[in-house]
Amino acid sequence: MSFPAVRLRRMRKDAFSRALMRETTLTASDLILPVFVREGEGVREPIASMPGVERVSIDELVRVAERAHGLGIPALALFPVTPPEAKSLDAAEAWNPDGLAQRAVRALKAAVPELGVVTDVALDPFTTHGQDGLIDASGYVMNDETVEALVKQALSHAQAGADVVAPSDMMDGRIGAIREALEDAGHIHTRILAYSAKYASSFYGPFRDAVGSAGNLGKGNKYTYQMDPANADEALREVALDLEEGADMVMVKPGLPYLDIVRRVKDAFGAPTLVYQVSGEYAMLKAAGQNGWINEEACVLEALTSIKRAGADAILTYFALDVAEWLRR
Ligand code: PBG
Repeated sequence: MSFPAVRLRRMRKDAFSRALMRETTLTASDLILPVFVREGEGVREPIASMPGVERVSIDELVRVAERAHGLGIPALALFPVTPPEAKSLDAAEAWNPDGLAQRAVRALKAAVPELGVVTDVALDPFTTHGQDGLIDASGYVMNDETVEALVKQALSHAQAGADVVAPSDMMDGRIGAIREALEDAGHIHTRILAYSAKYASSFYGPFRDAVGSAGNLGKGNKYTYQMDPANADEALREVALDLEEGADMVMVKPGLPYLDIVRRVKDAFGAPTLVYQVSGEYAMLKAAGQNGWINEEACVLEALTSIKRAGADAILTYFALDVAEWLRR
């Protein structure tokens, strides 16, 4: 009787042998929790397009941070929801030392100092038009003028105590400019997480609802600065530049539709590579789970494990708290 010389199913038969040959493991220490912070006290406001995610006031944010820290999540990424009256054409609220993001950073570092705090460096929560930068008369986002504003914003975050500043704007040259300004100001330990390969993705829709920039942006788009989803080589050029300019970590965003980019970036540079599982990815998994069309927990764990398998060192995910709880069991 003939038989296969190699039977790959032998190792798959029992949990013990599956565990022994598992190549990728997901742990709470791989996760960064993005949090939307708003003004007020004792506020937890649901976001319609992201069931289970809330906009929280600073006092509630501290509770979220304590919970995340207790679950072994290393860091939290802050996204401020700016009240309409604080938005302007010059986005000056972005570097207000007493702005919402800056106050939130101080509160977090006072309450849970060991938890890493990542801040978003970009102007879209602060502009009346919802673009990530300053615009000229034609509506074009001006590069170098925007970089000057981003430098002021990043410095104000570092001053407030942010551990990591994360430029998500995709202007040319902003990493170098921010790095130089941080060094000049003595912030030599502030890490830069560069959103290097950030695509002009339609999967950001729920995020724009969450921070309230969707209405400002209207029918506008971000094609003149975020990357074309059709491109891959260009992502490697972006990553190379950001690393040369002094980025400590690079990011690919969104996650699941861009795993080929993650793999290429990791293989080409071997640098700390993060992935953002974005709001639209969250919304899809959540909606299908809530409808009973998929098993939410199993699908979320599979998606995140796949992102790690593709080469990610860490993942920003709105599921971070749930995942950390699931992995405990
Ligand atoms: C904007 C910013 C966006 C996200 C993070 N920072 C949206 C955009 O570029 O329009 C998206 C995150 C998500 O969808 O979860 N600077």
